Amino acid sequence: MRNLMLFDLHYQHNNPLSKKKLEIITEIEGNFDSLILGGDNAELSSDLQNHRVLFDRLKRRFECPTSFIIGNHELWGRLGNISSWRLLNETFPNLGKEYNFTYLEKGNLDIKDISFIGTYGHFDYSFLRQDRGVSIEDLLRGTFFTDGKKITWKDRLYMDWEDKDDEEVCAELVSAFVERIKTATGKIISVSHTIPRLSLNGWSDSPAQHFMEAYSGSNLIGDVLEADGGEYHFCGHTHAKARAEIGKTIVINIGSDYNVLRYAILQIDGEKSMVKEREIIL
Ligand SMILES: [Fe+2]
Ligand SMILES: [Fe+2]
Repeated sequence: MRNLMLFDLHYQHNNPLSKKKLEIITEIEGNFDSLILGGDNAELSSDLQNHRVLFDRLKRRFECPTSFIIGNHELWGRLGNISSWRLLNETFPNLGKEYNFTYLEKGNLDIKDISFIGTYGHFDYSFLRQDRGVSIEDLLRGTFFTDGKKITWKDRLYMDWEDKDDEEVCAELVSAFVERIKTATGKIISVSHTIPRLSLNGWSDSPAQHFMEAYSGSNLIGDVLEADGGEYHFCGHTHAKARAEIGKTIVINIGSDYNVLRYAILQIDGEKSMVKEREIIL
């Protein structure tokens, strides 16, 4: 059984680099039994045009069950006068139905004896390292000064979770993820857009990283993997490759970036499984 894992494509129909990336993906050789999109799949656009082009093209090339979770860039509701909550719970479930992509935030993709389970994940500041010059006030404001420059984390500006704070959103998503793990009918392969432990961040330390890493995920996801994880968990979001073990689960940050396409092929044959990672500089 061959499964294709694609993260952080950030597809934009009018961007030549993005088009080239999609062409390369459609030319990946061989047949697949499933395709998983791990979030930040396409940039938000009017009537989700970027998503529609991406989903349609993938569906025509890969004649297999397809599924997806979304990423933070797909939740920037303030850019289009819609809340992040509605994007996550209404807009993207509907898009999934329209294009026959299983939306893993609402249900698992079960194929043969494998269950794919996923969540966007979000962040809850559990990665904030004390004494590194970044405060919770900086994080809640979404801006930080370093090297004479102001850096901004746009999730804090463009996400709108209605009456919920980030900790609540994250806890709610992760507890629903646990419930879906419990309903798995087969071997568990899980995915999250944000990372489950800071060890999956993939960047070396710097003042800017101490700020940005606090938005990269949540230990709640790592705790779930420690207790109930399957053989593999895939994540993305930081655009830097990393690999670590959490409990008995091998966790792989695919590390795909705007100008570097990275993807993984997960091959499962009975009890044997392996992951091949590929990197194409655009
Ligand atoms: Fe991304
Ligand atoms: Fe992301």
